[in-house]
Amino acid sequence: MAWIGRELRSTIDESGTLVLSLDQVELTEPGDDEVVVQVEATPVNPSDIGLLLGPADLSHIEPPVGSPLTTLKLTVPPARLKAVAGRIGQSLAVGNEGAGTVIAAGKNAVALQGKRVGMYGGAMYADYRKINVSDVITLPDGASAADGASMFINPLTALGFVETAKREGHKAIVHTPAASNLGQMLQRICLADGIPLVNIVRSEEQAALMRSIGATHVLNSKDEDFVAQLTEAVAETGATIAFDAIGGGKLGSDILRAMERAAARTPGA
Ligand SMILES: NC(=O)c1ccc[n+]([C@@H]2O[C@H](COP(=O)([O-])OP(=O)(O)OC[C@H]3O[C@@H](n4cnc5c(N)ncnc54)[C@H](OP(=O)(O)O)[C@@H]3O)[C@@H](O)[C@H]2O)c1
Repeated sequence: MAWIGRELRSTIDESGTLVLSLDQVELTEPGDDEVVVQVEATPVNPSDIGLLLGPADLSHIEPPVGSPLTTLKLTVPPARLKAVAGRIGQSLAVGNEGAGTVIAAGKNAVALQGKRVGMYGGAMYADYRKINVSDVITLPDGASAADGASMFINPLTALGFVETAKREGHKAIVHTPAASNLGQMLQRICLADGIPLVNIVRSEEQAALMRSIGATHVLNSKDEDFVAQLTEAVAETGATIAFDAIGGGKLGSDILRAMERAAARTPGA
């Protein structure tokens, strides 16, 4: 048997045209250790957006073409093309993780037939995904596909981050952007594990959100005295490790400087 379904793909050519297309793909029978999953839910992670849209100029999108309308074109400005040199000309399937129901299973995976699973491995923005059993996890009874679609990227990153901090002997953590989906998970794990977390947000709404889930150290990077507040929070908690997912501007260096200033208050400690 074969399954024919749609798959969302992103291609950038040498001239900078980015084409988003819903391609028809055919999946053949699963191998012994594989299953075919009917995809029912997928999240949009920032890394998915990176692959989907690259550094395209989103202020101008050409009207969709094709019949049915399956192709959309955007333009990557010449100055940004160098950043995507490695993917030029490749049609890339999008969607890091997802969840759905197993509709066919290889001989070593028959126990999964009919089960709802979460899965990780790319090409999830599709009707069907053939995947190795080692890349799926059966969802508990009653869990919806939406419940299980985001069970890998953010949870494992947050857990891995806390475990790394513990293993390296750090007493507390600094994180930005703290009100993100990942940041909220990190805060909940830190509360459960008794690890102080210094949360950096960029609005009062985000600060209120973090406090509502139990955060005690919440700093708004827009505050005039932000750097002084950060130094105090780092000194109070003893934070010596940080997770900066923004990566631009001077926030990263502000965090490192706050750690240096805090450390200088107790030389030799
Ligand atoms: N393994 C990994 O390396 C890994 C895994 C998972 C996630 N991540 C990264 O972790 C981050 C959070 O992921 P998520 O899925 O939780 O994202 P999310 O829920 O979409 O949240 C994104 C957050 O980033 C904030 N933000 C965006 N641009 C910003 C800027 N220039 N300055 C300050 N804040 C900014 C947004 O605030 P506003 O609402 O104010 O825009 C929002 O709070 C992403 O950067 C993601 O790529 C990395």
